[in-house]
Amino acid sequence: MPTKVSKFRKLSDKSRDKVPHGKEFVPAIDVTIAGIHFQNPVMTASGTFGYGQEYAPLVDLNQLGGICVKGISAEPMPGNAPPRIYETDSGMLNAIGLQNVGARRFLEEKLPFLRTLRARCLVNVFGYSTEDYVRCIEILNEGEGIDGYELNISCPNTRRGGMVYGNDPKLTEEVVGAAKKVARHPVIVKLSPNVTDITATARAAEAAGADALSLVNTFVGMAIDVETCTPRVSNITAGLSGPGIKPVAVRMVYQTYHAVKIPLIGIGGIASAEDALEFIIAGAQAVEVGTANFYAPDTSLRVIEGIRDYCLRKRLHFAEVVGSLKV
Ligand SMILES: Cc1cc2nc3c(=O)[nH]c(=O)nc-3n(C[C@H](O)[C@H](O)[C@H](O)COP(=O)(O)O)c2cc1C
Repeated sequence: MPTKVSKFRKLSDKSRDKVPHGKEFVPAIDVTIAGIHFQNPVMTASGTFGYGQEYAPLVDLNQLGGICVKGISAEPMPGNAPPRIYETDSGMLNAIGLQNVGARRFLEEKLPFLRTLRARCLVNVFGYSTEDYVRCIEILNEGEGIDGYELNISCPNTRRGGMVYGNDPKLTEEVVGAAKKVARHPVIVKLSPNVTDITATARAAEAAGADALSLVNTFVGMAIDVETCTPRVSNITAGLSGPGIKPVAVRMVYQTYHAVKIPLIGIGGIASAEDALEFIIAGAQAVEVGTANFYAPDTSLRVIEGIRDYCLRKRLHFAEVVGSLKV
């Protein structure tokens, strides 16, 4: 696969040349994706950081690039029965069942806090029909303080025999097109990794007007208690996340970077700055930290510092690192 030249190299070279001799080089690590300006390229991933406020006693939220909140649906949802999570050798399985407070309560109870932060607010949106997605976005459009929508297309379309939106380029195009028509904010489409060729859904989302892509969501997995011969998670199958999925996720970002022109946000098993940099060098303009928040809530802050140190050491602005893979 040919190496794509970083789209930002020229601009960044110019700005670095302006650093007078003898003055310390200060790398720029802010980034603009889909018209949204982030003070740094590190966000927290949906479903792993609540609605942000839950982590306020543990993390200085104002230092984050962004917070992507738990998936929101038009109506509240109770989620699946327990057990809903199970720890694996290098990650976890979850089948929370997209439990959430619903779009209206989100606007009333969660958004007022989020809009006081310097971190950008992305709202993860899901539904079981295209109309569900549209209705949810229409409600959310009424709120002040949302910077962008992240469309979770890993849901089964109940009208089409449960076929998962993100597994089918046609369904992807349909739901992204419908979302774009009504959305008052940029639409970032979150791709499912449970496909043979992720570039097919990536291209479909881009063709339908997606402003950016985030990838990846969890991998469908399963674990069994051999003593009781029962599934470890009540839903039987569950989403696998954490360090174990990182190499597959990095590969998917690399492939997608060469398949589309819109910006990418890398997700999957990030627990350190080095992990994040793999995604960035493969082509991601930003990253989301997920499962690591559960066992080390300060991971995102460490990732931000690590990226800054890397840029300083290499005398590069962040934009020059994006897609800098040498093959
Ligand atoms: C408990 C849990 C809940 C999640 N809920 C959502 C969700 O509501 N919407 C969504 O798009 N992704 C959800 N995800 C997926 C994550 O945002 C992320 O894409 C995935 O976990 C991979 O990243 P990680 O390996 O860093 O966790 C969830 C993941 C976990 C572990």
